[in-house]
This record gives sequence, C-alpha cells and structure tokens, in this order.
Amino acid sequence: MSLSQAIGLVALGLANFASAKTYQNTNNSKDVVTVRWVGNTPEFNSGATFGLPWPRGKYQANQTTFSGLAGENDDSVQLESWITAYWPDDSIKWTGHALGGSEKVYEEYKIAASTSTEGNAAKRSNPSPQSRLTVRDSDDEITVDTGKLTATFPKSGNTLLSLIKTSSGKIVGQNGRLILRSQSGIEDDGENTVSIDKLRFESKIEEVTVNSTQDSTVRSLVTVRGKHQATSGTHDDWLPFILRFYLYADSDAIRVVHTLVFDGKADKDFVAGIGIQFDVPLAGEELYNRHIRLAGHDRGLLSEAVQGITGLRRDPGKNVRSAQFKGEKTSDISSWDTRVSSRLKWIPSWNDYSLTQLSPDGFTLKKRTKAGQSWVKIPGGTRAGGLAYLGGATRGGLAVALRDFWKKYPTSLDISNAATDAGQITLWLYSPSAEPMDLRPFHDGLGEDTYDDQLDALEITYEDYEGGYDTPYGIARTNEVFLFPFDSTPSADTLVSLTAHANEPPVLAADPAYIQETKAIGSYWGTIPDNLTESARTIESHLDFLIKFYQDQVSQRRWYGFWDHGDIMHTYDEDRHTWRYDIGGYAWDNSELSPNLFFWNYFLRTGRADVYRFAEAHARHTGEVDVYHTGPFKGFGTRHGVQHWGDSSKQIRVSTPIYRQVFYYLSGGDERTGELLHELMDADQAFLTVDPRRKVRKDNGTYVIDPTALDLDLGLDWSGLASTWLLEWERRGPRWEEARSKLNTTMHSIVNLKNGFVTGLGLYNLHTGAISPPATDPKNLGDVAVSHLSASFGLPEIISQLTDYLADDLPAGFEQAWLDYCYYYGAGAAEQKARYGVSFGSLNLKQGHSRLTAYAAKKLDNSTLAARAWKEFLSTDGFSPSLPWSSEHLNGSEVLSPVDEAAWVSTNDAALYGLAAIENLAQIGYAL
Ligand SMILES: *[C@@H]1O[C@H](CO)[C@@H](O)[C@H](O)[C@H]1NC(C)=O
Ligand SMILES: *[C@@H]1O[C@H](CO)[C@@H](O)[C@H](O)[C@H]1NC(C)=O
Ligand SMILES: *[C@@H]1O[C@H](CO)[C@@H](O)[C@H](O)[C@H]1NC(C)=O
Ligand SMILES: *[C@@H]1O[C@H](CO)[C@@H](O)[C@H](O)[C@H]1NC(C)=O
Ligand SMILES: *[C@@H]1O[C@H](CO)[C@@H](O)[C@H](O)[C@H]1NC(C)=O
Ligand SMILES: *[C@@H]1O[C@H](CO)[C@@H](O)[C@H](O)[C@H]1NC(C)=O
Repeated sequence: MSLSQAIGLVALGLANFASAKTYQNTNNSKDVVTVRWVGNTPEFNSGATFGLPWPRGKYQANQTTFSGLAGENDDSVQLESWITAYWPDDSIKWTGHALGGSEKVYEEYKIAASTSTEGNAAKRSNPSPQSRLTVRDSDDEITVDTGKLTATFPKSGNTLLSLIKTSSGKIVGQNGRLILRSQSGIEDDGENTVSIDKLRFESKIEEVTVNSTQDSTVRSLVTVRGKHQATSGTHDDWLPFILRFYLYADSDAIRVVHTLVFDGKADKDFVAGIGIQFDVPLAGEELYNRHIRLAGHDRGLLSEAVQGITGLRRDPGKNVRSAQFKGEKTSDISSWDTRVSSRLKWIPSWNDYSLTQLSPDGFTLKKRTKAGQSWVKIPGGTRAGGLAYLGGATRGGLAVALRDFWKKYPTSLDISNAATDAGQITLWLYSPSAEPMDLRPFHDGLGEDTYDDQLDALEITYEDYEGGYDTPYGIARTNEVFLFPFDSTPSADTLVSLTAHANEPPVLAADPAYIQETKAIGSYWGTIPDNLTESARTIESHLDFLIKFYQDQVSQRRWYGFWDHGDIMHTYDEDRHTWRYDIGGYAWDNSELSPNLFFWNYFLRTGRADVYRFAEAHARHTGEVDVYHTGPFKGFGTRHGVQHWGDSSKQIRVSTPIYRQVFYYLSGGDERTGELLHELMDADQAFLTVDPRRKVRKDNGTYVIDPTALDLDLGLDWSGLASTWLLEWERRGPRWEEARSKLNTTMHSIVNLKNGFVTGLGLYNLHTGAISPPATDPKNLGDVAVSHLSASFGLPEIISQLTDYLADDLPAGFEQAWLDYCYYYGAGAAEQKARYGVSFGSLNLKQGHSRLTAYAAKKLDNSTLAARAWKEFLSTDGFSPSLPWSSEHLNGSEVLSPVDEAAWVSTNDAALYGLAAIENLAQIGYAL
C-alpha cells in the first residue's frame, strides 16, 4: 500500500461533524484535543498545518473522522485531516491537520476525533463552513482557487507560477520563475586569472503534481520539480529544485518551500545568484499611484512611490501627499494644485530599487531612474525583514517575503521596471551582489596523502581529512518564501505584520502533557511537574541556561549565512575567546552526539516557542546541508568540521532521521522533511561506496567490500538504519514492508550475537538485513567492542521507541541484549570482566550514558540502579554541578565584539547533559 493509498482510507473531516459534548463516549476526554499557538496568537491566519499524536489502539484509520472547533460557542472551523503514522495494529499514531484561513484567529482550537461505528451519537450542530478551495488539474496546468486568490501552475516550460489573481480578478503576479547565475572561476584567484565564463539559467520544469482534487478540501499542495537550464552560455542542466506551494482555503497567502540540491563541481561551478522572480503588471496605474515597500529593521518599512509628489517645492495638497504615503489612490489629478499637476513630467520616476543584505549586521538600499543612470543611495539599516511589495493603489500588487532573510545572508530584494507596464520583484536567496559562492575545500590537503598522515593530522587539528571526500556534491538547502497578493496597496502596518508572519510562521501544537500521554514520540521525556525537588530544580535551571546560552551564541557569534544558519559550533577556544571555527574537526557541529534530540525533547516537554524556532532552524540545516541527497555519498552525512561537507568521515550517524522525527510529526508531516526521511531507505547502499572504517581497520590491505558482509557498527550505523526503518514502517511509506522486515531481521540477528550489542560490530547482508558475527569472531564465541560513541547518536532513543512500538512483538531476548549494554557500560571493570571475560577498557561520556543506566533501572524497577544512574550523571564526567553554570560578559580588546563566554561549555557535553537530564528526570526522577 502506498502512502497516498493509505491516506485515502481516512474519512476526511467535513462530513459527520459533531460537537465534542455530544459524543457517546464522553468519559474519555481524549476525544477532543486542544491545540494552541506556539508563542503568541498570530495577527493573521492564512492557513496552518500541524500534527497530533494518538495513543495505540484507539482510532482505526478507516473508522475515524476529525473535525475542528473553536471559541466559546464551539464554532466549527475548516479542517482537513490525514494520517502521518500508524501503530503496528494499524491504529492511528500521528495525524496531520490543515486549518483553513480565517478572518478570526482563535487562541486555541479543539480537534475532535470520532469513531463512526459508534453510531449516530454525533449530532450535527454547527455545520462546517463550506470550503471554497477548488483545484483544476488539466493536461497543461493546475489552477488552485482558495476563494481569496487563484494561482496557476504550468506543467512544462520555465514558468512555475504563471498567474496570481486576487478574488476580484486582478492579476497581480505573472511569470513566476527561478533564475540563477553562475561563473566558471573566481576573479581574485591569484596570478593565473583565466578567462571566466558567466552563465545565466532559469527554471526548467520536469514534473508538477497536485494533491488529488477530491482529497483537498482545505489545503492544496502543488509540487514542482525541475532543474536549472542555461539561457546564456553552455552548461548542462543542473541544480535540481523542488518547489512546494501550499495553498489553503480562504487564504490570501501562498507559502513556498524552496529546495535546491547542489550537484555542481566545487572548482568549476561558482553560483553567483539564486533568485525567484515575478512580474507585476502595472499598466494603467499612474506613476504616482505605484508603490514600493521594503521591510527594514525591527518592524520598519520603506514606503515610496515610483513618482513621489511629497517634499516638492510646490504642494499638490495635503490630502494628495498623505494618500500617496499611505498607498491610497490620490484624489483626481484635476483637483491638485496646478503648479504641481502641470509639472509632473519634470519629476523623476524611480524604476529600480535594490536592497542587499551582505552580512547579518547590515543591509544597504539604493534606487535609480533607469539602467545607465547612477544609483542613489537610500539610508539602510541592520537586519532587513525580507519583504518587498510592488503594486498600484488601484490595480493591486504583490508582496514577496523570505523567512530569515538576514539570517540567511547574502540575500537581496530587487524591484525593477516599476515605471514600465510590467514591473518585477526578484527575491535573491543568494545575492548577485555577493562574492560568488565558493564551495572549494579551505585547504589544499597539506600533503596528507596517506592514511597514516591523515590519522596523524587528526591528532592535531582533529580533522579527518581525505582528498575527494571534501565535496559539496549532493548537499541541499531549503528556504521558505511567502507570496501575498493584494487588490490595492496595503497599509504599512499590514505589511509589517506579514513580515513578522513570514519570519515566524504560526505553529499550532498540543500540550506537552497530551503528547506525552500518547507515547507516540518516545516515553523517555516528561513534562515538568510543579512539585520539583531542590535538586531537580537545579537541573531544570541548568537546562534552561544551556538553551539560552546557545541561542545567544548564535546571535553573538553570527552563526548565520546561506549554508550555515541553523548549525552551532562544536568546541571553544579559551585563549582566543572564540569557538574553534577554523580548526579541523572542532568547528561546525553537524549533529555530533545529538544536540538535535536535546532541543526537540526540550521543546516537547516545555512547549516553548523560542525552543521550537531554534530546533526548527537546526533541523532544517542539519537535514539538508550536513547530508548528501545525491551522488556517491547519498544517505550519509558528514562529521563535524570547518565546512559542513569537508570532513572525510561520511556516516549515517549524521543523517539519521531520528533527528528530524519530532519536527516531521509536529509539523503535520512537512513534505520536504518526509522526503528526507524516506531518502534514507537507501543509505545502506552507501556502505558499498564508503567504508567508514577504512582508515582504522587492521585488514585494510585485504578487505574487500562485500554486500553480503558489510561491516556494520551496531551502535553508530544500526541506530541510523533502525530509525530509518521504523519511520518508513510507521509512516507506511512506499517501502514499509521492506523496512519492517529489515528491522525485524537485524533485531533478531543482534539477539543471536553471543554478546548482543556489546559485540560492537557485525557483518551486514545488504539484501536480507541479516547480521552475522564480525570477521574477528566467525564462530560467535563473543567479541567485546564497546565504544563511547555507539550510543551517542540516537541508539537509546530509537531502541526505546522500538520497544514501545513493537510491545509484545519485540523479538525475544532483544530487551535483555539492550539492558545488558545499558547495565554494563557503567558497571565498572570487575563486573564487566565477570560477565564478559574482559573489561570494556576505559570509557568516557559517562554522564551521557547515565540515561542508559536510568533506562535499565526503570525497566528493571531497580532503585539501586537508579541511584547509580544519578551518580553517573552528577559525578563522573561531563558537566558537574560545581561548574559556574553562567557565562561571563567579555568586551574591549580581548574580543572582536562584546560576547558572553562560558569556556567550560562544549557542545558534546551540552548535548549529552541535556539528553541525559531530560531522560533521567523522566525515568528515575524519584531517585534524585
Ligand atoms: C478497517 O481497517 C482494518 C485494518 O486495516 C481492516 O481489517 C478492516 O477490514 C477495515 N474495515 C473496513 C470497513 O474497511
Ligand atoms: C496530499 O496531501 C497529503 C498531506 O499533505 C500528503 O501526505 C499526500 O502525499 C498528498 N497526496 C498527493 C496525492 O499528493
Ligand atoms: C510530585 O507529585 C506527583 C503527583 O502527585 C507525585 O507522584 C510525585 O511523587 C511528587 N514528587 C515529589 C518530588 O514530591
Ligand atoms: C593499514 O593501516 C595501517 C595502520 O592503521 C597503516 O600503517 C597501513 O599503511 C595501512 N595500509 C594500507 C594499505 O592502507
Ligand atoms: C522476524 O524475523 C525472524 C527471524 O528471522 C522470523 O522468524 C520472523 O518470522 C520474522 N517476523 C516477521 C514478522 O517478519
Ligand atoms: C538492582 O541492581 C543491583 C546492581 O546495581 C543488583 O545488585 C541488585 O540485585 C538489583 N536488585 C534487584 C531487586 O534486582
């Protein structure tokens, strides 16, 4: 069964509407789940998608309908519902819901689930508002009408969005297309300046799909895939793109999720501009009634007209001036002071505007009357909001906004040809005013030609270098863009609110306590009780400190940029008072030791808006930039380093989908993220190309990659594969049966290894999923190879989820194999030796591993073990309670700019402290 078939089984929500109070089984309050806005209630609702978890066995897919209520009178709201995950018994585990646009924005909504076999208890009270969303899917184009706007998407050619029309029929956007610039070299590349070819490209559509029309009552998703095709110069089609257009019933906004995969050559293809361009028809509008708006800093806005009639030597009249500034139609020119109206031809018209954000600290602005004439500077500012509007007071116009505009610098917004019949808005996701994007390695290899040299260099810079592996080929980036059409030029306040909306698109979520009770996203985190003990309160304050500290570091250390935004750094350099941004393996963190899981679990238990935004940016970055989506390393991610793609260690431990699982479900199944999860289904194929242990294996001279006996780390590798398979299975993705089978087979295989997880390594059969004993132990007598890293990339979390998911179907012995690992990791040499014949050697990351001990203590209901877990957490390694737990403000000549420093913080420790604190409190809080 395919995903879309599975979705077809859900009876969709508008029929059978019932007020929650009329259910038969009202004794179960879970029939109605409340969702609230994360953070403040937004000023606008232009449609929103969110996810909800459901407990095992409660709602069957083909017998459940969902409906939405809001307000004191339980007003019915437009809701479309679909299933994003199932429990093994096919009951619903997660749903996605789309809420239509509405004038009224409620503080909370109630989502009612009703089982249709319960008879007709559901009395029809307030009928649902009729959806006005219509979709027409013809041979050559798709047209979506939301009731407030109409958008047309051609199925071939270069134009992705041919028409945007308002409900009154005004065409305010046309010929929406992607544009791209690149060049074959870099100007200041030293002596040997070769001639540089400059190329231009535009979008070439390969495939356009839309949600089947009868499915879509509230939300329509149009997905356009293609590549960039040269329009000048010679170049293969390249840089595949996926644009997802989300349109909601009764919404006057279009949300666009723009994904680009880099498949060029770092030393030959220098991207010099990535843009989205729309034409805005202006014919018939007087020049003095045409308006330009550009969002500035902190709710600021530049409001100008193409032909300004304010500030002149002669006054057209106060009403005229005021109307123009507000963007309203001026009174008829015949009513103006003739000393102005007779001289309009002498007042220049401003044809072109350009706002450029080349750093996170400043944007510049300029305008000109036309090409060939000088630009005139407009005073700029620091952090631009990222919205541009062009349009007329009477014929309307279009606003385009990029989320995180200044955080994703270098970016630009251009308005051009505003004095002609067809103006343009160009949003540059990568500004052509910036230096071309240079994705080449940052050093020349330093002569590290052998594995011996590379391993020796690792000893000093911690970089795991190998020529050829430092490639950006296959990385991706996803951006969010909003389109807002208008019948007339909107007020400045409206545009300012929409700028805020585009930067923090409203999110709905259920309460932490409800999510936790369903056990649909891990039972290893808990909400924060009111009656915290003193020690628990201290830990909570430390968690809060860490989250706040990283948020502040992002802003103080300027961890921003097209490729960088969303990542954090790995280790600090106390002497220079800076993170080690330039030192080999210490720079960008690339998900090392699972900060992702810390941030998401912290959001789940607190519901805090700042944490959601932070974790979301992190998820978007780590899932796209740190992972390969095409090419030989597809499915693997890259170890931490100075460039996100630079390190030669390519592993599934970085790409593991568990890092994006919470975001995926909470977002109601963000389609790009869903694609990333599914993409990992072939990650095991990458073992055929990359041998992760090539530099350290003892049999390096004789080792041959054998698809039926691939070295598989039972921690680092299996945790990533198991996450992939569980997600594919629970989502009932296209390959869910294969996923379930490989999951089952590998779990049985691990049980069959004499020492289970303690074996460390096994031989994996790519075709069947079977794991046999390692080459060093063909007779399965019991190898012992325990590493501090094995359980540091989501292994405990995925095993806990698998245990919950499979429940009674968990393979016999699997739980014991895992509990042994959990117990013995921290048990000490004597107990290890008594059990396995040898000790595990010296191990660190004990604070992080205390959560394994806590898991065993909970499962075995053993308070002695629980006490051991807390001891490991509080007094082994990692962050001790006696640390300052504060930062110090530095300024003056010691640092480039004032910063807060906590030199004792490393991201490895922060990630593990965060995870262990959350999991220990949830599992053995009583023993603290
Ligand atoms: C509902 O789904 C269950 C489980 O998939 C299936 O056994 C049953 O036949 C379905 N019922 C109907 C009426 O389709
Ligand atoms: C329709 O929308 C749902 C939810 O967004 C999505 O999961 C599904 O894949 C879409 N179906 C089609 C046929 O595109
Ligand atoms: C806090 O309250 C809960 C629920 O009443 C109780 O189970 C728990 O033991 C209490 N914890 C402490 C530390 O008092
Ligand atoms: C194998 O690895 C050892 C040390 O790990 C190294 O000395 C040797 O050069 C390697 N051999 C090959 C063929 O790479
Ligand atoms: C799981 O794997 C075991 C061992 O390979 C096999 O006996 C069993 O039938 C499998 N179960 C399922 C549900 O595929
Ligand atoms: C609890 O674990 C300890 C080891 O930490 C063990 O000695 C003891 O027997 C266990 N208690 C029970 C009741 O299983």
